[in-house]
This record gives sequence, C-alpha cells and structure tokens, in this order.
Amino acid sequence: MKIMVTGGAGFIGSHVVDEYIKEGHEVLVIDNLNSGRREHINKKALFFEVDIRDSDALEKVFRDFRPDVINHHAAQISVVYSMKNPELDIDINIKGTLNLIELAGKYNVRKFIFASTGGALYGEPQGLPCTEEHPILPLAPYGIDKATAEHYIRVYADIFGYNYVILRYANVYGPRQDPFGEAGVVAIFTMRMLKNQNCTIFGDGNQSRDFVFVEDVANANLMALHYEPQEDILPVFNIATSVPTTVNEIFKTLKELVSYDKDPVYEKKREGEVYRIYLSYEKARKYLGWSPRFSIKEGLKMTVEWFKGGV
Ligand SMILES: NC(=O)c1ccc[n+]([C@@H]2O[C@H](COP(=O)([O-])OP(=O)(O)OC[C@H]3O[C@@H](n4cnc5c(N)ncnc54)[C@H](O)[C@@H]3O)[C@@H](O)[C@H]2O)c1
Repeated sequence: MKIMVTGGAGFIGSHVVDEYIKEGHEVLVIDNLNSGRREHINKKALFFEVDIRDSDALEKVFRDFRPDVINHHAAQISVVYSMKNPELDIDINIKGTLNLIELAGKYNVRKFIFASTGGALYGEPQGLPCTEEHPILPLAPYGIDKATAEHYIRVYADIFGYNYVILRYANVYGPRQDPFGEAGVVAIFTMRMLKNQNCTIFGDGNQSRDFVFVEDVANANLMALHYEPQEDILPVFNIATSVPTTVNEIFKTLKELVSYDKDPVYEKKREGEVYRIYLSYEKARKYLGWSPRFSIKEGLKMTVEWFKGGV
C-alpha cells in the first residue's frame, strides 16, 4: 500500500513509519520539522518538508504520490502551549487536519488513521478505567481541537467514502521522544538525570497517568491499517495499558535505572492537566486485536538505554 504519514519525522510518527516499512509498504513522510528530526526518518521513506497548513503544497504531494492511506500524526502537541495560543492549535490541529481530509476526498484515499488523545480528551474521569464512551470533557484547547478533528474525520468519511480509525493514545513514551519540550515526563527526566541536572515535578507527584510504550503504539497503527469496518462499531480505540503510574513512581524507577542521586524539585501544579487517569483498552483488544506487550519497567529500561546513546 502507499501510505502518507504526516508527522513521520516526529517521535511516534517515525516509529509508525518504521513499522509500515517493515511490512513492505511504500511510505511518504510529510513533516515541517518543527519538532521532528530528519535523522528519525526511515531511509526507505520518501520525505517532503511540507506544512499541513499549506494546502497547495500538500495537494502537489497528493497529486504525485496518490496515497491509499493517510496516517495523520502531525500536530501541535503541547497542552500547556494550547492554553497560551489556542488559535495556533486550531490552525494546525483542526484546519491542518481538514486540509488532509479534503485532499483525501479529492484523491480517493481509502483509509484515514488519526492520532488522537485519550489522556487529554475525557477531562478528570468520572469512572476508571476510562472507556471510549466516557463524555468528552477536555480541560484545554489541545483536547477540544483533537475532539473536533475526530468529528470532522467521521463526518467526511461518509461523504468522501473512506474508512477511518481513530486511536486515542494514553501517555506515550520511549526512544526518540523530545526531552526538551514541556511534555513527555519520561524523556525529560531521563535526559536530565543522565546529565545530572535537577528534575521538576509539577504538583505533588501523586498524579497518575497511563504510560504506553511507543513500540506498542506503532503496532496499534499496524493493526489499524488492517482493520475492516464492522457494523455498529465506531472505529475509535483507546491505546493504553490500563495501569496507572504516578509521576513519583516514574521518577523513582528512572532514578534507579540511571543511578541518579538527586531528589526531585516540586513546583506548583500546571493548569489544564488531569490528576488521575488510566484508560481501558478492552475495545482495541476485542476489535483491533491489539494489546500492549511492554510493561512500564521494560519500556523505561529500553528508553534509558536509547537516551544513553545520545548523551
Ligand atoms: N506523545 C504522546 O503522549 C501523545 C499522546 C496522545 C496523542 N499524541 C499525538 O500523536 C501525534 C504525534 O505526537 P508526538 O508525541 O510524536 O509529537 P512530535 O512533536 O514528536 O510529532 C509531531 C510531528 O509533527 C510535525 N509537525 C508539527 N506541526 C506540523 C505542521 N504544521 N505541518 C507538518 N508537520 C508538523 C513535527 O515536526 C513532528 O515531527 C500528535 O498528533 C499528538 O497529538 C501524542
């Protein structure tokens, strides 16, 4: 199949590209290299440095490549930044997605796979683990815009005749994650510990998240590629482990793995973030045939090994 992966130079997108290429697909990466890195792009993939907000440049790529599938990972990914600059989040995460949807319709794309969020969509959960049926009550523009993009993809699927799969990721971590942003506590702590710098925990550190390893997430994208629509099943799936882990626990495990001897520095909790969440992946297990394969211990160990190579 011919697959266009947007955000394919980024953390998760680059692992998805690797997985698709391993299965023998022809992959084209679209990325503006805002946070993505050229060296993360698989050598066997075609690459076009294009911004998803630029519909003319995008159309040129669609016209030449004629993708069967769009796998859409390009995004503004910061919850905190989306609070400060909601217009930019709308431009990239809604309007950029809409550009891709319109071109998917015009160029007869067969499937649209979308990287959405489970961690920032449901708000503070009313029951745990959170299923896909939980009300959508985001606490920040990032979640509002991901939810809106989901709706556009669903509505236009009927009009344009493509199939779609929406994957709502929990907190993804692993090799290639950017340790210099404000999101991605595992990457940030790992890098700072390896450089023997202080690590900041926002809040009391007892806030818990559902941490899923990036290779498991890439595998979910492979399952999504092969997913056939089923009657009465909305193709929206949490991709998670159903295991809550606190930020303090992440800190402690990494501290042991890195042999770091400082204590964390605690600062005021950040706005727009949930306190305690973990997600059910039962629907993905049943209909996509996907389950996580890596425990948090295994995933953290592999992440530390990878970051050691870059310090
Ligand atoms: N990391 C997580 O825990 C997590 C959780 C839920 C959902 N997601 C979603 O997964 C996707 C990938 O996230 P990531 O963590 O790999 O982040 P990332 O920043 O590494 O990847 C995003 C990629 O998109 C590119 N990009 C950004 N704006 C662009 C634009 N306007 N045009 C073209 N390319 C653009 C960046 O250069 C980067 O390569 C995003 O859609 C994100 O919202 C991530």
